[in-house]
Amino acid sequence: MALLRMRHYPDPVLSSVAEAVTEFDDTLRTLATDMVETMYAAPGVGLAAPQIGVLKRLVVIDCGGEEEPELIEAVNPEILERDGESYEEEGCLSVPGYYAQVKRSAWVRVRYQNLHGEMVEQEAEGLLAVCFQHEIDHLEGKLFVDRLSSLKKSLFRKKYKKIMEQQQEQL
Ligand code: NI
Repeated sequence: MALLRMRHYPDPVLSSVAEAVTEFDDTLRTLATDMVETMYAAPGVGLAAPQIGVLKRLVVIDCGGEEEPELIEAVNPEILERDGESYEEEGCLSVPGYYAQVKRSAWVRVRYQNLHGEMVEQEAEGLLAVCFQHEIDHLEGKLFVDRLSSLKKSLFRKKYKKIMEQQQEQL
């Protein structure tokens, strides 16, 4: 197992579209294991492969918390159906130090393959629904800040620049 290096905005890999996974082999399972370890170490509730520089359609999610961990390893995930609206505050391991409310669907039905290639269908609401949408966005090269209004986006760019400068000073 290994911790993987997190890519941060504006790394171009984060705005690239990821490729479908076709080989369900040990390489895929090792990548998933390393991503899970990296997500828990951060700590975060979700991680998509592009965030560690791999343009494959693989995401790991655990919105259960320490009390009731509920790990999901989803290959080639897609949203089949959605309903309602939600405005949860979101953050992202690739956009450190910045949080904003994002308009999402409140309920989703998703389909994905597990690490052995078997098809899974699942319904999700609340935080898990938001997580699925956030992580699947990553596979399309989309970050949560891309979903902000243009005014909020320009505020984000200014604030993020400051956050990055402060981090540089700390190094
Ligand atoms: Ni993210």
